[in-house]
Amino acid sequence: MRVQVANHPLIAHKLTYLRDERTDSPTFRRLTEELVTLLAYEATRSVRVEPFEINTPVSPATGIKLSTPKPLVVPILRAGLGMLEGMVRLLPSAEVGFLGMQRNEETLEAITYANRLPDDLSGRQCYVLDPMLATGGTLAMSIQYLVDRGADDITAVTLLCAPEGIEALDDQLRELDVPVTLVTGAIDERLNEKGYIVPGLGDAGDRLYG
Ligand code: PRP
Repeated sequence: MRVQVANHPLIAHKLTYLRDERTDSPTFRRLTEELVTLLAYEATRSVRVEPFEINTPVSPATGIKLSTPKPLVVPILRAGLGMLEGMVRLLPSAEVGFLGMQRNEETLEAITYANRLPDDLSGRQCYVLDPMLATGGTLAMSIQYLVDRGADDITAVTLLCAPEGIEALDDQLRELDVPVTLVTGAIDERLNEKGYIVPGLGDAGDRLYG
């Protein structure tokens, strides 16, 4: 798995306010959207394009347009929903699929309560959105769903990651033939005994929607 940490002062600035426990839900939602738009710029660097002929007012010109099939964007509910608008602002023609997943807070294992992905993802580039990569279980399972349907290029976009989760995810993906890229705003210090990212930002779903 290729890991790319966005290194930009605006991202670090917005993440600082996101982490701050005094930040209220409306501000948290706005910052999440802004951060995703910045991360999406990095995450779509390898989006597939094809040549496209146009005429400018002056002359013919060859530009590019997104290839078909168009990319699939998959927010992982709940918290990933807060990232959807920021992502589709940059990729308005993308199709959107949904995964509903929740981590059991005792065992830290992810369970899936909703799966609305297209059946056939052959030849599709997919972008998975989830603010937090803690143990990595949620992202590992969601990437497996996409690979099982034929996706052949997957980029996960997260705001924060724990180093333990990145390592676990990398281990689980080693068997896969599909290239996976992780684009994240920051890699934090560690996971605590409850499976929370430290220093992190708390429970992203609760802070967005609680
Ligand atoms: C959080 C977060 C990720 C997951 C990360 O979701 O948004 O989906 O936990 O944990 P993991 O890497 O250890 O699997 P949560 O289960 O709290 O659900 P929510 O988005 O509905 O709040």
